[in-house]
Amino acid sequence: MQHRVINFNAGPAALPLPVLERARDELLDYAGTGMSIMEHSHRGKAYEAVHFDAIARVRALLGFGESHKVLLLHGGAHHAFATIPMNLLGPAQRADYVVSGHWGKVALEEAKTVGAARAAGPDFGGVYTRLPRPDEHTFDAGAAYAHITSNNTIEGTQYDAWPDTAGVPLVADMSSDFLWRRFDIARFGLVYACAQKNLGPSGMTMVLVRDDVLAACRTDIPKIFRFGVHATHDSLYNTPPTFAIYLVRETLRWIASLGGLDAVEARNRAKAAAVYGALDAAAGFYRCPVEVGARSTMNVVFRLPDEALEGRFVAEAEKAGMVGLKGHRSVGGVRASMYNAVSPDDAAALAAFIREFARTNG
Ligand SMILES: Cc1ncc(COP(=O)(O)O)c(C=O)c1O
Repeated sequence: MQHRVINFNAGPAALPLPVLERARDELLDYAGTGMSIMEHSHRGKAYEAVHFDAIARVRALLGFGESHKVLLLHGGAHHAFATIPMNLLGPAQRADYVVSGHWGKVALEEAKTVGAARAAGPDFGGVYTRLPRPDEHTFDAGAAYAHITSNNTIEGTQYDAWPDTAGVPLVADMSSDFLWRRFDIARFGLVYACAQKNLGPSGMTMVLVRDDVLAACRTDIPKIFRFGVHATHDSLYNTPPTFAIYLVRETLRWIASLGGLDAVEARNRAKAAAVYGALDAAAGFYRCPVEVGARSTMNVVFRLPDEALEGRFVAEAEKAGMVGLKGHRSVGGVRASMYNAVSPDDAAALAAFIREFARTNG
């Protein structure tokens, strides 16, 4: 067994060990075919089986049928920041974006390069320590769609209940909490997630798009950007990122082996409770800036009394085998990203370290 650290990176992030081991074992000879899955044609039986199984597994885990198409695309979430307005925003329309953190702001700015888009809901003035309350949303009943970020990776806030958009298609960037639990896909016109947090490696995007939204997508944009083209071709219009999709499929298989999304949710809630519990128990020393009801189960953001102590915390944690704890450069502090692949034992190790660091430095 090689040396493995406990990885709290925000993304690219920890992948499940069984997935990595399987990829390693199959790298030279995938399923007795004498080559890796990367060397197979995307039109061949071996790869197609992986591709369609990945799609089927997303449907099975979330429990939906033909209401939404599952697209496996290139380019991460930034690509979707552009392709969503390109597909969904007509020339005489406007889109609403809830800006509850850095990524929502980036998504809105990108949409504005395509068409008319505006910030809807409260103006947090750049301080993103909570999420809008239901009555603070100001969605336009005539908007082409309403966009939210379900989990703010940098700021550590996460939606618990979905906003009511009164019939306007709800679009969610679920990059950093997709498949952390089951959710009701019927509430969404479109959901997208880059893969490098809960799903697999970076560079690919999963898009779930409802049939009526898909049917209304624009056809006057280049084919490679059209959701309709990718849907018609089952995401095999161009050469897809085959190795990334193989790893996503293995990750979906691993989620099923844990007992599916209900088991994954229980595991994630226990991890979050362990770490927030340790922080709250030493509340005079640690400070969680996020409102309790908006705390993310995926990205735990916290501060220490000063930056020097934060630096020491991160450095000593690293010596103890825990990496990736430095907060995002835009907000500072400490951030522990605990996506699905981070185990309850990893979270318990961090909680113990949090307690011990407060005891010796508080
Ligand atoms: C919520 C959210 N949206 C978008 C992105 C950007 O993803 P990508 O770099 O794959 O475009 C990230 C990445 O950290 C994210 O956390």
